[in-house]
Amino acid sequence: MSPQDFQFLSDLLKVKSGLVLTADKGYLVESRLLPIARKRGLNTLEGLVGGLKRRDEALIRDVVEAMTTNESFFFRDNTPFDNFKAHILPHLLKARADSKRIRIWSAAASTGQEPYSLAMLLAEQKAALAGWRVEILGTDISAEVLTRARAGLYTQFEVQRGLPIQLLVKYFKKEGDMWRIAPDIRGMVQYREFNLLDGFTGLGRFDVVFCRNVLIYFDQPTKAAVLDRLADSMADDGMLCLGAAETVLGLSSRFRPVKDRRGLYEVVRG
Ligand SMILES: C[S@@+](CC[C@H](N)C(=O)[O-])C[C@H]1O[C@@H](n2cnc3c(N)ncnc32)[C@H](O)[C@@H]1O
Repeated sequence: MSPQDFQFLSDLLKVKSGLVLTADKGYLVESRLLPIARKRGLNTLEGLVGGLKRRDEALIRDVVEAMTTNESFFFRDNTPFDNFKAHILPHLLKARADSKRIRIWSAAASTGQEPYSLAMLLAEQKAALAGWRVEILGTDISAEVLTRARAGLYTQFEVQRGLPIQLLVKYFKKEGDMWRIAPDIRGMVQYREFNLLDGFTGLGRFDVVFCRNVLIYFDQPTKAAVLDRLADSMADDGMLCLGAAETVLGLSSRFRPVKDRRGLYEVVRG
């Protein structure tokens, strides 16, 4: 691919999804985009860029989806889920004792492992949450991963990554070679296509936001802008959980780290 075409592609990805495509990612461009070019009869990466320049929206969408990294697994990194169980949930059970309402957002939900991990943790607290209305919203820029998330169907490999065996037995059913998540857990999560570069109004106010392993793909100004918008969409005592390689430090003064809780941040008000 010519340097000009690479620049065009990287500008387009940045505007459409926030993804920063650095020059060392040439191998990714080829392995992920050549199959799309061939499928559409464009044959080469040059042909594909030509299609993008003609503003073929369906092609742009396919290219953005192909260039995103969708890897996820159940209870990824453990700590955020330990924090949820030991710190966030006990706080909300007290603080929302009147409204009995909790709203959680998994802001880069990918194929659903993150929101379903939260749903299973909540299901395990059934007695404490009797009479409560708990909403989990899972959003992602990619329609393709959301289709998989909605289906709640996982391979043996996927359920072996991070999911405790007791939870597998309790909340999944074997379907051929695959495992289907229980309808009760499935029903606890609503999915919606959503680009984190867009305005957050219309999503409502959240008590907890999991925004993990997506900011790492953005540049500093984009990370800062997303963090500020997240703060605006959260309750005054809202809590934000970031990925292991992500932080608010140096990016946003709207959050501060929660002491002794790695990856967990609380909203700063006033
Ligand atoms: C690596 S996955 C993270 C999944 C999950 N949060 C986890 O930590 O396991 C990153 C997800 O971010 C999504 N993504 C990338 N850019 C996005 C954007 N601008 N808006 C919303 N989602 C985006 C991708 O489609 C992908 O599914």
